[in-house]
Amino acid sequence: MANSGSEANDTQVKLVWYYNNALGRPEKKKFIAKAKAYHGSTWISASLLGYKLL
Ligand SMILES: Cc1ncc(COP(=O)(O)O)c(C=O)c1O
Repeated sequence: MANSGSEANDTQVKLVWYYNNALGRPEKKKFIAKAKAYHGSTWISASLLGYKLL
């Protein structure tokens, strides 16, 4: 469950990471997102913007 779009997108990313780890492919962590498309303000969802954040 999530209370915002940012949290919802974070949850999806974490689910995919967890899923691929569980299936023994921990290297499969990349996401494709439209360049500069806003996906939220949390660390993970903001990283989907494609900007170098740090
Ligand atoms: C496509 C999309 N994803 C995520 C968000 C982030 O949602 P929230 O502001 O509820 O964290 C927005 C908000 O504009 C959005 O348009």
